[in-house]
Amino acid sequence: MSYETLLTETRGPVALVTLNRPKALNALNSTVMSELADALAAFGKEEGIGAIVLTGSEKAFAAGADIKEMQGIDFVDAYIGDFISGWEAVAATRKPMIAAVSGFALGGGCELAMMCDFIIASETAKFGQPEITLGVIPGMGGSQRLTRAVGKAKAMDLVLTGRMMDVAEAERVGLVARIVPPERLIDEAVETAAKIASFPRAAVLMAKEAVNRSFETTLGEGLRFERRLFHSLFATADQKEGMAAFMEKRKPQFSNR
Ligand code: CAA
Repeated sequence: MSYETLLTETRGPVALVTLNRPKALNALNSTVMSELADALAAFGKEEGIGAIVLTGSEKAFAAGADIKEMQGIDFVDAYIGDFISGWEAVAATRKPMIAAVSGFALGGGCELAMMCDFIIASETAKFGQPEITLGVIPGMGGSQRLTRAVGKAKAMDLVLTGRMMDVAEAERVGLVARIVPPERLIDEAVETAAKIASFPRAAVLMAKEAVNRSFETTLGEGLRFERRLFHSLFATADQKEGMAAFMEKRKPQFSNR
């Protein structure tokens, strides 16, 4: 499949999706949104793919929603057209997704990275929610996911001032899982995704679902949900294989059953 604004490739069990609008610092226009939703849906269906890496260029993961495209929109267009609601397709991706971030991840770019399951960032990465400087606020989850990721004080600081934070600060506050040198970024993300893809698919999807549920529910309900998923994995052949292999001191041969 070829796209106007994305490059896609597979590396073993990993799909690598690269945002590719270099002249606009990967600004996220409606074509990027619909192509990304299509690419993720296609990789979601591809049995051989166990995890996805989403990346941009060295200079920019993405510099936000496309300001040129947004400029002419009025309230009625935005409201009736439910502007940017299509991005929910990214967050709804069931297979694990790693954001590999280099350079600017601003506005919708930061929000897109946060829709992934975790962020591996290069030493050059910069994060921010500068929407306030344009007279708007984050519209793809920045006020919600950022607050859950880094807490109220830091989220307010970023959302109200529009300032950027460097990668050291982003890791310190819990937005970024790992920092790597720029030249290691893609390999580190792909190797990490391949490791995830090597584990039993049902357990991986349930692990993702369980962690995500912690953001949606009470502790008691979350613990009960986790326990039920945990119980259900004892119905899989891969649980039998994983535990037998441990006892027999050999490598497991998982079958995704
Ligand atoms: N939309 C459209 N075009 C963008 C863009 C964006 N978000 N960000 C950068 N570009 C374009 C620039 O217009 C420029 O195009 P031209 O060469 O045709 O003039 C090109 O990308 C290169 O950008 P700069 O010349 O500005 O590069 P720089 O290195 O000097 O600055 C930057 C980089 C600090 C990231 C700066 O481009 C910038 O501030 N970009 C906008 C960031 C922003 O405000 N993002 C939030 C958007 S709103 C949003 O995302 C809403 C939401 O929550 C959904």
